Amino acid sequence: MLAKVTSCALIGLEGILVQVEVDVSHGAPSLTIVGLPDTAVKESIERVRTALRNTGLHFPRTRLTINLAPADIRKEGPIYDLPIAVGILVASEQVWPQEVEDSLFIGELSLDGSVRHIPGVLPIAALARQEGLRRLFVPAMDAPEAALVDGLEVYPVENLGQLAAHLQGLARIPPYRPTEDLTALPPPAYAADFADIKGQEHVKRALEVAAAGGHNVLMVGPPGAGKTLLARSVPSILPTMTLEEALEVTKIYSVAGLLPPDTPLIRHRPFRAPHHTISYPGLVGGGHWPRPGEISLAHRGVLFLDELPEFNPHTLEALRQPMEDGIVSIARSTGTLVFPSRFMLIAAMNPCPCGYYGDPVRECTCSPAAIARYQKRISGPLLDRIDIHVEVPRVDYQKLTDDRRGEPSAAVRERVERAREMQRRRFAGTHLTCNADMGPTDVREYCRLDESGRALVRAAMQQLQMSARAFHRILKLARTIADLAGSDRIETAHLAEAIQYRPRK
Ligand SMILES: Nc1ncnc2c1ncn2[C@@H]1O[C@H](COP(=O)(O)OP(=O)(O)OP(=O)(O)O)[C@@H](O)[C@H]1O
Ligand SMILES: [Mg+2]
Repeated sequence: MLAKVTSCALIGLEGILVQVEVDVSHGAPSLTIVGLPDTAVKESIERVRTALRNTGLHFPRTRLTINLAPADIRKEGPIYDLPIAVGILVASEQVWPQEVEDSLFIGELSLDGSVRHIPGVLPIAALARQEGLRRLFVPAMDAPEAALVDGLEVYPVENLGQLAAHLQGLARIPPYRPTEDLTALPPPAYAADFADIKGQEHVKRALEVAAAGGHNVLMVGPPGAGKTLLARSVPSILPTMTLEEALEVTKIYSVAGLLPPDTPLIRHRPFRAPHHTISYPGLVGGGHWPRPGEISLAHRGVLFLDELPEFNPHTLEALRQPMEDGIVSIARSTGTLVFPSRFMLIAAMNPCPCGYYGDPVRECTCSPAAIARYQKRISGPLLDRIDIHVEVPRVDYQKLTDDRRGEPSAAVRERVERAREMQRRRFAGTHLTCNADMGPTDVREYCRLDESGRALVRAAMQQLQMSARAFHRILKLARTIADLAGSDRIETAHLAEAIQYRPRK
């Protein structure tokens, strides 16, 4: 008898339906598996055989043919264990086929028949929904993640015996019911509150503007000035994610296998701070089974690169295209893969190797050549993509020992939220989520200037020898500054603030 079971392959974040066809026919025992399976899928048969036997079910001793269709996409990993097992059970008439028809099965089997966690359940559930399937059978521990997609019956499967009993109609598995209220938001965890950071008011303002519109920031200053501290406090002022954004981010973590077991949905914007020794694929993504890199794990959140010049320049250059497009393309032998990577870059560096160039108190010991070499490690095109350049000077003793607390992060976050709300209203019905997402055409539409504004930008472009990109970035930044002020129009003062964040040559 021939059985057909629906399962799924993942290419990047996209799911594609895979039909697992199992044919059991009379003849001498043999086994054929076709349809571009990789070795992990071939090994699957051995796991299925042992799991069936250890569950008290039969592995047919006749001719067995397994086909994974469509044949032109590569089937990877162990997620086909469960659909293959179900196919064998149906084809050898050990369970009824009715419920199998409009269901999707995924899961890895242990030798004892228990079903193990697999990565990527959320995009798989989204595909099942999109394709109009009714039921999804997943590893029990992945059920909360699958249940994020509504309109599907999610069955948490502990082991193969339980699934067989369900399909035989003997003991039904109760569908998963989420217990958690996903709209209830726990407070974000962060390293420091703005209130505890003394002085540096202009840096805090710059970070507020950056958070409000999703802009990139570079902080330059001497050792111990508080750059790392300031960057690590940014999560405390980031706006909350919409449910859509949270699902996007969760998909990436799901596919990367990095979803914390007790959190089906990632609700806080990611804050990724990779060390400067990170490899190219680690930052950008890739590998044998392509995984999202740090720039995708930071999607909708912050990528913090501390000690920027210490990073491999070749690795840093790879940021250029994703910073512009919000996606990263990874070439593979079987085609190109795309992961989203719309992050806000926060970078920090010293002005020179010794760290004290330009410091009013301590003298810099670097030669001019050494300073030039150090600063050249960051390429012009990369710097051009950073909207906000801000100096972080040393804090003096008096400010540091001042007991008064500054404005708390919660108050800053409120302003950021209001500015984001204006952006959400502005961009309703488009693919844009914040000002930083705007492309040149959007800038023309949403960032109109009056005559005096135009005159100011014209003068600044000449004086600062700005690129066309810098021009667009200034307008987007000015839009955010206007949003923070609750103003529909971009005033000259908003533009002036945006311009002074550009680097001086
Ligand atoms: N403005 C500040 N208010 C309160 N504490 C501060 C401030 N600046 C620095 N500190 C203290 O100094 C420590 C070092 O600061 P931080 O690591 O952020 O410096 P940095 O600018 O990153 O230096 P480096 O260039 O060496 O990396 C902080 O952990 C904090 O205890
Ligand atoms: Mg530091």
